[in-house]
Amino acid sequence: MDSDLSKLGNNLVTKLHVLMRISQIYDSKNVALHQFIQESLQTINALIKREGSFSLKIVKDDFFLNGQRLRYSVEGFTSFKYLLTQWKKRFIGEVIFKNPVDERILKDFVYTLINLEEGGKENAPLFQVQLKSRQITSIEVNPLEVVEGEEDAFTLQKEDQREVAKKVFFETIGTIKQVITHIKSRQYADVRKLKRLAQRAVHLVIEDESILLGMTTIKNYDEYTFNHSVNVSIYSLAMGKRMGFSKRTLTELGVTALVHDIGKSRIPREILNKPAALDEEEWGVMKKHPLMGVETILNLKQLGEINPRMVVGIFDHHIKSDLSGYPKLFRKKDVSLFGRIVQIADSYDAMTTPRIYKKTPYTPEQALAIMLRERNVHFDPLLLKIFISLVGIYPIGSLVILNTHELGIVYKPNHDPRWLDRPTLILVDRDGEGKVKKAVVDLTTTDGAGHYPRSIVKTLDPYQYHIDIAKYFL
Ligand SMILES: [Fe+2]
Ligand SMILES: [Fe+2]
Repeated sequence: MDSDLSKLGNNLVTKLHVLMRISQIYDSKNVALHQFIQESLQTINALIKREGSFSLKIVKDDFFLNGQRLRYSVEGFTSFKYLLTQWKKRFIGEVIFKNPVDERILKDFVYTLINLEEGGKENAPLFQVQLKSRQITSIEVNPLEVVEGEEDAFTLQKEDQREVAKKVFFETIGTIKQVITHIKSRQYADVRKLKRLAQRAVHLVIEDESILLGMTTIKNYDEYTFNHSVNVSIYSLAMGKRMGFSKRTLTELGVTALVHDIGKSRIPREILNKPAALDEEEWGVMKKHPLMGVETILNLKQLGEINPRMVVGIFDHHIKSDLSGYPKLFRKKDVSLFGRIVQIADSYDAMTTPRIYKKTPYTPEQALAIMLRERNVHFDPLLLKIFISLVGIYPIGSLVILNTHELGIVYKPNHDPRWLDRPTLILVDRDGEGKVKKAVVDLTTTDGAGHYPRSIVKTLDPYQYHIDIAKYFL
């Protein structure tokens, strides 16, 4: 699909999502609706102008725009999921816009849609009749095609673990975003929801950490703060698991990591997004974020969800073990365990993510090398060891070249000390249609004669090879 069409398609899904939400709050005569309707009309009519007519259709768990699958972006995920669930619940599988529409038609369409009974299998023909009775011929609605063996179309029971992990990951990004926006506008921020998501993440990490760890390779440039918080949380949880933390402590650690930078919500955008190095004054402001984070957390209504261990973790996540870093302390104090864990996760994620002032980040292995050099001074050496054993000497997401001249992406490190250099890889390969093939190979596999057919020669920089690592983990 060409990028303009894909952009319009994503836009359409977002607009329909907002519109459905809004129409559940306001009645159809409310003036607040006008602006949203206008914005949606722009997108719909732009698509009609371009495509003549268009169909938005659900096939299994995806939307297809005029027969081509829409790929969602990180920021679009919530909208996709919402629209998909809402349509499926009402057994609506396809909407076709045949001619340009105006405000009245779109309003009628949306309100008829939200008023359909959930679970009503005859909704689509019913909808069609209702549209006709209002003289609307430019929109056609078709029923959901239920795939065989998938009787209960709108339950998500059959998702495998990867799907669940994906959902938790994107949902957490969405929620942390919401919490921060609410804090900024002094609205009620739902910390309990964060806790629930952290609990689910703890579950996933306990079962199979490599799936969530793989998600950390999704480095979304625009959504840095939210994406970063979730990644730091995943790394912290995986470390906590190694250290034998209880589920309860893990959940506390997960939430601490999610909100570790929440103080940044009170730092001006110009400083946060400055494309160059900060001057002294700006640094002064930036260094206040741990303390502001503590203040923010203590001001939350659901303070019951927060305990002192978490508050301290937020406070000292930038204090180094030699007490350099910030905030400046006047008396010697040990950095808390949560603080030390978050610090390692934080530095690693920051170094391996492209930022506005550093577009080519460090490769995973470069980042680990730098952290190792700074151990004793900046990091807890023991915790760093745990972290390295976790991501492996070839960390998850590293691009490697093999003796067979194939390229591979590290998918799962090998934790057996004898085989640290033999992780499981996904081979970088495409099928006849140019689609990414996901062939998984375990480098400890031997041939009949006991030889290893594949070995890693060295790591490569994915940016030089224009390889989007995250694609292989989704
Ligand atoms: Fe921070
Ligand atoms: Fe951070």
